[in-house]
Amino acid sequence: MADRSAGTEVISINDLLERVRQEGPVLNFQNDVVGIFDPALAVKVDKANTDQHTVPDSLIDYLGLRGAAPPVAWREVRALLSEQGGRLAAPEQMRALYLRMHAFLSRRCGAVQDLSELSWWAISEPLLPLLIDGMDARDTDALIGEQKTRYSGIVLQDFGVFRRLLNLHLSRRAARTVVRHIKRRVRDTRAHDDFLQSLLPLVGRIGVDRVAYLISTVLAGMSGLPGITAASLLYALHRFPEWQARIRAETTALPLETLYTLPMRELPCTSRFIKETIRVWPGLFALRRPAWHDIEAEGVSIKKGAAYELSSYYQHHSPEFWDQPDVFDPDRWLPSRRQPNKGAYVPFGFSSRACIGSAVGHAQLVLFCALITRDFDIQVQAEPAPWMKLEGFAIPIDFKGVVTPRAGAG
Ligand code: HEM
Repeated sequence: MADRSAGTEVISINDLLERVRQEGPVLNFQNDVVGIFDPALAVKVDKANTDQHTVPDSLIDYLGLRGAAPPVAWREVRALLSEQGGRLAAPEQMRALYLRMHAFLSRRCGAVQDLSELSWWAISEPLLPLLIDGMDARDTDALIGEQKTRYSGIVLQDFGVFRRLLNLHLSRRAARTVVRHIKRRVRDTRAHDDFLQSLLPLVGRIGVDRVAYLISTVLAGMSGLPGITAASLLYALHRFPEWQARIRAETTALPLETLYTLPMRELPCTSRFIKETIRVWPGLFALRRPAWHDIEAEGVSIKKGAAYELSSYYQHHSPEFWDQPDVFDPDRWLPSRRQPNKGAYVPFGFSSRACIGSAVGHAQLVLFCALITRDFDIQVQAEPAPWMKLEGFAIPIDFKGVVTPRAGAG
């Protein structure tokens, strides 16, 4: 799946499947891009590239204003963030997250609205306190501003001049807020339950500006794929009412306090449904990375400065790894039916660059299903009929409806 911007080739999944069948899993695309469509090879190439990656220099480094210090490996940053992500998926944090999502949806009850937009924001905005704990309303609003820039670019694909100027202003405001909080937190002796806490030990080594860059990377991670995935989940709940009923039965059978502990064994249908939704509609169909240095892996050579492309959508839809790959069938995840997929299932990315927020992200998807099925009713407008736009990522279109509190929910 190549970049769809003007001047580059557009390859449909069927063309791609055919090309891989004929030419093998390594394809040469235009503009020095190598496509890797074998799951194990994709992981090796990505790892070879990432292993030497370090936190990029900032303007201060380019100007030589910081003394020479050993670079910090991206791996180290990822380890700090992933461990913190695991801790943040604890029941106490999940309770607070659920209540924030609940409050968000309650505020949006009663009016006809775009349900993709609603899902995106119901997931993205409540994540912000997990990035930086203790922000006041003004600072939260500044970070919501950054999320607006992401929403306008990714979902609305609005790149008009006015939007760009507005985004510049919003991003600068958010960046100033982040820097202020980092400086404040360096002086704070109390530990906070947020992603910033895990990066504070790096401030002395790489400076406030580069830690601010890392925080903005996590903010970007929070402000795209989680929301897109939530929109797909809501769409799947609407498209497959029998699954909605099964999930409702599971989530209403459990007290909320138990749900916050994410007892996946007691939520088997919810679990299969989420797995299948992010298989059929993975957040990001393909990703393209520059080679930061020469890469050699199993006979594949990619020169520094060239690029390679990996595709979760291809891997999730290839008949080499799945029976009837295009059919939405959560029961394919039943233990009795599971088939080996050779590592093709990558909804949270490829291992060396996989999502550092997957623990929180997955937990939030479970809570979102619970919230939608047990606490709210969604009436989707029949006309025009909702449909799934598949262009780089999946987003439901013409997906309009009304959210109301569910009678008897509490
Ligand atoms: C359903 C929820 C989520 C999904 C489906 C998802 C998916 C992904 C995927 C596919 C990648 C790999 C992108 C790439 O390789 O370029 C990724 C990376 C990342 N995600 Fe997530 N994500 C989710 C939630 C989150 C959350 C909640 C956070 C933050 C708390 C987060 C932070 C990140 C970051 C920082 C990266 C970049 C990692 C790196 O560059 O090494 N994600 N995510």
